[in-house]
Amino acid sequence: MRMALGESLLLYGLGAGAAAAFGLPALKSRLELSRAKHRSLAGHARLARRVAALVPGYAYGEDRFFSVDGAPTEVERRRRDGFARLSSLYRTRYARTLAVTESAKEALSDLQFTAAYRVPFQFSAHVRQHLPVGAFLAESAGPILEDLDGNRFYDLAGSYGVNVFGHDFYKSCMAEGAARAARLGPVLGAYHPAVEYNVRRLRQVSGLDEVSFHMSGTEAVMQAVRLARYHTRRSHLVRFCGAYHGWWEDVQPGVGNPLPSRTTYTLKDMDEDSLRVLARRRDIACVLVNPVQALYPNSAAPADGSLVDSGRRASFDRAKYAAWLARLREICSERGIALILDEIFVGFRLAPGGAQQYFGVRADMVTYGKTVAGGFPVGVVCGRREFMRRFDEARPADICFARGTFNSHPYVMASMQVFLERLGAMSHWYDGLDERWNARAARLNRTLEDAGLPVRVANLSSIWTVLYTRASRYNWLFQYYLRANGLALSWIGTGRLIFSFDYTDDDFAAVAERFVAAARDMERDGWWWSSPDATNRSIRRQILREMIRQRL
Ligand SMILES: Cc1ncc(COP(=O)(O)O)c(C=O)c1O
Repeated sequence: MRMALGESLLLYGLGAGAAAAFGLPALKSRLELSRAKHRSLAGHARLARRVAALVPGYAYGEDRFFSVDGAPTEVERRRRDGFARLSSLYRTRYARTLAVTESAKEALSDLQFTAAYRVPFQFSAHVRQHLPVGAFLAESAGPILEDLDGNRFYDLAGSYGVNVFGHDFYKSCMAEGAARAARLGPVLGAYHPAVEYNVRRLRQVSGLDEVSFHMSGTEAVMQAVRLARYHTRRSHLVRFCGAYHGWWEDVQPGVGNPLPSRTTYTLKDMDEDSLRVLARRRDIACVLVNPVQALYPNSAAPADGSLVDSGRRASFDRAKYAAWLARLREICSERGIALILDEIFVGFRLAPGGAQQYFGVRADMVTYGKTVAGGFPVGVVCGRREFMRRFDEARPADICFARGTFNSHPYVMASMQVFLERLGAMSHWYDGLDERWNARAARLNRTLEDAGLPVRVANLSSIWTVLYTRASRYNWLFQYYLRANGLALSWIGTGRLIFSFDYTDDDFAAVAERFVAAARDMERDGWWWSSPDATNRSIRRQILREMIRQRL
């Protein structure tokens, strides 16, 4: 904390120009780096870890849970009734799914984590006790999911982004892939012939020279960064504030990682100060870009676990983001920095040629994952030859090692082949894609506005997020009303809705109807009551006071 404060004082008291005038290049470079960090905690990885360690755990009991915002007794009573109704509906309607979830949760660490972080921690214990969410499903068909009790939901979770063309498409890719791979079976080391096809097609899709296969997106990113370091002989990677690139240490330098990374710079997204750092520093091997950040630059992926107020912001400007990528491209080329476009999420969702095509930019390396193996787990790196080579003929002992037992698994490769073969036949989905999803978002927003409901949506094509227009401490509860109305969200709640392309207008109309019904239910139950002087700022201050009181 002292370091950051010192940096700020120097920055504002002395300034980079003055440092240069005094002939202090190291200081100037340090100041430039400080200036290129986003002012939020997300922009200061080390400071964020220290602050996170200070946040005390505490939970609202029954007495505060319903009126932490000072709601009058009548509103509190509506909330209590609404919560009891919701709780009883969850317990009866989802009984079997919940029983299996509870049984697995005991020893399934992942499930314990997602259950705890579905809502802000102050509310979490009470919610877990009274509104447990089932984590098991039995079936999918089109955009519909069915749980173990036979309840049907529209799928707004999108399998973390894997589901671009609809579940039925992936079922078919996986089945045909399995049939093609069956003769070779589980043999690893040597390749299934599908690999040769996949390499050829991925070169066409990416416009890049070479390809490597990995078992997850995280590993693909690891390998791309490692190659950039190997070839540039430089230590640092640049990522932009808030961007997710998997859970490997160096791409998660702050909260969430027990060891802070010392070879990562987290810089402001879409900001000239960051370009200045790229143009001057000599230790930068690569810049990692996750294009989904275009929807919420400098913010972490929105999740209801951190939805403590109504401060979530999002909007997308394609031309502006394309211009930013063009500037990055220019500077990376000038400075010999590898530009890595991490398309693991947005890849085939924006255009058949991915984000490179959509934003009109050419990267040195591109990572793909999620959807590209037709439903099986995978990570892919495509890159220019000079970055992809893992050895150096002139220095035979100097290699860049990367392996993985299951990379190029026959079933995965065969299913990827089916996916890539069928991609051409999917081109009709891309015609008018953005217009379709933008129109749907606009229509839903108009309905919400006309109904006087304090909810809106923002979108980057088929990737949506929910915004709240009235200062409230209870927005996180909306995900539970959506579920009760037959809409399935991922555990991060309303932060991200991911639609598959097979949603017909009728499907979407049904989703919109349920969405509005859920918002009406939430309004009826009093959760969006707000005192006239409540603001997002006053809410955050209240929480800060609670934390300080708790620590003292
Ligand atoms: C942009 C991006 N990069 C990397 C990853 C990590 O991929 P995986 O979960 O397959 O390890 C993800 C996953 O969500 C992602 O969205």
